Amino acid sequence: MDEKLKQVEQTLAKYGQEQLLDEYNRLTDKKEKQDFLDSILTIDFNQVKILYENSKEKPSFMDSKIEPIDYTDKSKLSKEEYEKYKAIGEKKIKEGKLAVVTMAGGQGTRLGHSGPKGTYDLGLDTHKSIFEILTDTLNEARKKYEVDIPWYIMTSEENNKPTVEFFKQHNFFGYPEKCVTFFKQGKLPMLSTDGKILIDENGKIKEAADGHGGIFQSMLRDGVIYDMKARGIEWVFIGGVDNVLVKPVDAVLIGLAEDKNVLAAGKSLVKANPQEKVGVFCKRNGKPSVIEYSEITPEMAAETNENGELKYGESHILCNLFNIKAIEKISQMNLPYHIAFKKAKYIDNNGNLVVPDKPNAYKFESFLFDAFESLDDLAIMRVKREEEFAPVKNAEGVDSPETARKLYLDFHEKNK
Ligand code: UD1
Repeated sequence: MDEKLKQVEQTLAKYGQEQLLDEYNRLTDKKEKQDFLDSILTIDFNQVKILYENSKEKPSFMDSKIEPIDYTDKSKLSKEEYEKYKAIGEKKIKEGKLAVVTMAGGQGTRLGHSGPKGTYDLGLDTHKSIFEILTDTLNEARKKYEVDIPWYIMTSEENNKPTVEFFKQHNFFGYPEKCVTFFKQGKLPMLSTDGKILIDENGKIKEAADGHGGIFQSMLRDGVIYDMKARGIEWVFIGGVDNVLVKPVDAVLIGLAEDKNVLAAGKSLVKANPQEKVGVFCKRNGKPSVIEYSEITPEMAAETNENGELKYGESHILCNLFNIKAIEKISQMNLPYHIAFKKAKYIDNNGNLVVPDKPNAYKFESFLFDAFESLDDLAIMRVKREEEFAPVKNAEGVDSPETARKLYLDFHEKNK
């Protein structure tokens, strides 16, 4: 018998995943059969087993001591403080010590756009895509500080090719091509409720992006950390793709982090209401952390302090700054996985396509901000919503193209 097949059979039997052989047996093409076996061999079955076992556990923050966290309000800095931070940050930027990373590996399912989220036309008169808007912001900074700012774009297996092609088609929107690097995030198999790895509609292992917490390991694996160090980078801004008012080149944020002698910083803003779908900064067992909106209890989200403000009201907007030393350290760690229960099409054991109308499969994601806990301290800088946060998440209603467009136009009207 084929040695490889034997090895696969043994592994699948050990981990109770023999159903994958049904798909192998259905395949007729020799190359396809071999490719399928190869894809099975890339799976870390022990990890999958642990992930499934952990799926039964409650969110871990319930057992931790959670407290509000201190922050610096940018608009309340004294003139001296502001100028001091700005000068420190500007020096770093002009010396070419800042790099920007955009996480664009998500699928944008809620937006209902079929391509990579960054290719979405925001609906302005100019028909600029989200990627073009982000590039405009970086181009402005590049000109202002007269320095090249290396830009790293994290994609996923599914959207890497269309993302790279989109940039090429548009000549990188005027950004120097040599300053743009694409890298891919990792992925993990999706599991049925009884812990079985699913087969997707194309007869392949059903995999999904493993969340942006994998970014640090991907940066190490794909040589991004090496490249940053070779370029002398000290600070790395990491942000999501979907905020069209993101300010990745922020001298005051860098200055604040340097002055406080911390290895990471994050921007926050006041949570609009207890139900707003944003994570919130907090202290967890004395360490900086974020509680995600999907995990906070409604009671905790609504708690207020003695001033009548939300006790956990410093929203995390996925605008974070890391020192290269922190990135190196975190890239050696395994961050915890969070479990999402999703609707996932799959091929059943008889070879029939199943299109579920309710969630049926577990997806595992690690979150970048879980890395904060491994750092002793974090500088949090509260910024103004109307200046820095215009997310494009949903097709309609809150955080939609319509709301983001309005915020974008209002901001640019005021700052002409
Ligand atoms: C996210 C934050 C939340 C924050 C909010 C602000 C997470 C888990 N939560 O929520 O704390 O308050 O933004 O807008 O991020 N992405 C990847 N790879 C992945 C998953 C996501 O690159 O595997 C990227 C997406 O392309 C996007 C960003 O991460 O740019 C945010 O992802 P999304 O899943 O939309 O997070 P939210 O639920 O909006």
